[in-house]
Amino acid sequence: MSELNSDIILSIKNLHTYFFTDKEVIKSVEGVNFNLKKGSTLGIVGESGSGKSVTALSIMNLLSGTTGKVVDGSILLEGRNLVDLSDEEKRKLRGKEIAMIFQEPMTSLNPVLTIGEQITEAIIEHFKISKSEAIERTIKILEEISIPRAEKIINEYPFQLSGGMRQRVDSYGFSL
Ligand SMILES: Nc1ncnc2c1ncn2[C@@H]1O[C@H](COP(=O)(O)OP(=O)(O)OP(=O)(O)O)[C@@H](O)[C@H]1O
Ligand SMILES: [Mg+2]
Repeated sequence: MSELNSDIILSIKNLHTYFFTDKEVIKSVEGVNFNLKKGSTLGIVGESGSGKSVTALSIMNLLSGTTGKVVDGSILLEGRNLVDLSDEEKRKLRGKEIAMIFQEPMTSLNPVLTIGEQITEAIIEHFKISKSEAIERTIKILEEISIPRAEKIINEYPFQLSGGMRQRVDSYGFSL
């Protein structure tokens, strides 16, 4: 399909966004490409944790305050590469030329406890089992609700999860 370049308002090319934690590098976005045409709507579909929100946060320059960084690629807004702009210039664009409506308010999860701590605590209380049994059961529960990397996720904090992952952990807590 041929497209006039002037019709494209936002062009994402080979976007790579990684999170650098103490222990590992989480490659959340690896080579995303898309064009958004003027006046059109674009839906991005993908499994939970596949990097949809991190793509949006990268475009919005809302990764500061996290360990996340755009490590490669370009974000062209009407031809200007946002990756090259200063934070001040990017801040000026936000709310004026580009805006983000967030997926969810923070859930009832405690932000200072790891996912594992919050679930195992609830399970120990509920089933009267040992801590090691509770950890095993927590990993199984996370796998049942389709949380990827369950063994790692138990040691992570709510802010490190995707929105959908947080929603599922949260709703599990309520149903216990
Ligand atoms: N602040 C963060 N620190 C570390 N890892 C993060 C952080 N935010 C997101 N991630 C990781 O980046 C990956 C992509 O997350 P993202 O939020 O983009 O998923 P998503 O596609 O929006 O999923 P959902 O459909 O559940 O909202 C996940 O593995 C997630 O754990
Ligand atoms: Mg999301």
